[in-house]
Amino acid sequence: MRFVRNEHWTRTAELKTFQEPETHMLNVEQVRRDFPILDVEAHAGVPLIYLDSAASSQKPTAVIEAMNQYYREYNANVHRGIHRLSEDATNAYEEARGRIGRFINAPYEETIFTRNATESINLIAYTWGRANLRAGDEILTTALEHHANIVPWQMIAEMTGATVRYLPFNHEDGTLALDQLPNYLTERTKVFAFTAVSNVFGTIMPVRALVDAAHAVGAIAVVDGAQAVPHKPVDVKAWDCDFMAFSSHKMCGPTGIGILYGKRDLLAAMPPFMGGGDMIRRVTLAGSTWNDLPYKFEAGTPSIAEGIGLGAAVDYLTELGMDNVHAHEAFITNYALEALSDVKGLNIIGPPANQRAGVAAFTLEGVHPHDIAQLLDADGIAVRAGHHCAMPLHKELGITATARASFYVHTTTAEIDALVLSLNKARKTFGY
Ligand code: ALA
Repeated sequence: MRFVRNEHWTRTAELKTFQEPETHMLNVEQVRRDFPILDVEAHAGVPLIYLDSAASSQKPTAVIEAMNQYYREYNANVHRGIHRLSEDATNAYEEARGRIGRFINAPYEETIFTRNATESINLIAYTWGRANLRAGDEILTTALEHHANIVPWQMIAEMTGATVRYLPFNHEDGTLALDQLPNYLTERTKVFAFTAVSNVFGTIMPVRALVDAAHAVGAIAVVDGAQAVPHKPVDVKAWDCDFMAFSSHKMCGPTGIGILYGKRDLLAAMPPFMGGGDMIRRVTLAGSTWNDLPYKFEAGTPSIAEGIGLGAAVDYLTELGMDNVHAHEAFITNYALEALSDVKGLNIIGPPANQRAGVAAFTLEGVHPHDIAQLLDADGIAVRAGHHCAMPLHKELGITATARASFYVHTTTAEIDALVLSLNKARKTFGY
């Protein structure tokens, strides 16, 4: 039974702002047993406290086993062999695609395997962008994006003569400056590309409203779902976005595989991304024709074990229930914001807990974020320090770096308490 109240509720009784989630919570102790790495010591005698899931999540046994099983029992190429192993591999890989698509409410043909969210956004920029952008057109993204949703647009703007513009954000709470949207989203805008959840502030964006605003000026809406799909129920049809990108490795799946969702009509009209086997219907020396969706965008032998692994990750998260995953993270985030507010000199950037996913990026007076990360590591606590692949965001805030703790299905209140203790230690070490 994973869905029971547990001992981690105890401290919340003391927290003034705590709101009891309407859905059931996860049984975190049981969930933790699903992740073998949580039994590994960070250093001899020091248990691991993993608070870096926004960079990359840990993997449950079910995912590791699904990939092992493929290599041990039916390793072969897909879509090619007329033998038992190849048929089993093809079935497992394609069935995984179907389940991954259903996880975000995307039809099979609109669920394209890529290497990660970054490759998915590059695919849109290079194919849709090259075919549709001209000098004078504008690409709108935001100043708080991860580099993957900035750099590909800058590159395609350079190639096509289009211009990239950046919707500002409110420095005090990490929300988008929506009052300025009409100045940025105009009839010149052809693409509005934005993240569903900020990887630094944790801000949960009003995706459907932003998509509608893009459509109202005739632009397509591209959603970076890398920090959303792992953490809350996502329905691309309800969002009505034209494209959505996410990575497997942030949602209990392996590295090296990600998804591009795209509306069928747009995908059908786009030229292919890369050329090679699998993406073609017919090849002659005079030229080639393209395969049906989704294969038209998948050149060469794919990441087969990884696709199967992502399918297992989706099964795992579905079994936990994405509402429960979201409720647990909301609870932990609320707890963390309260607990961290006890640390003197600590400044958390971003919105209040009710508008935030499981991310807390912060500065600590007198201690550089890299020193924070190093001192926390000595206590077995893994956090990320630096610009989190969002240099413009930090530049806008006038800081070079933050430390970031991020939470997932296995995070406990005891781990947050240990973080607070260790931060207080770090503060004292630096004489503050
Ligand atoms: N985008 C990843 C992060 O936020 C790498 O850490």
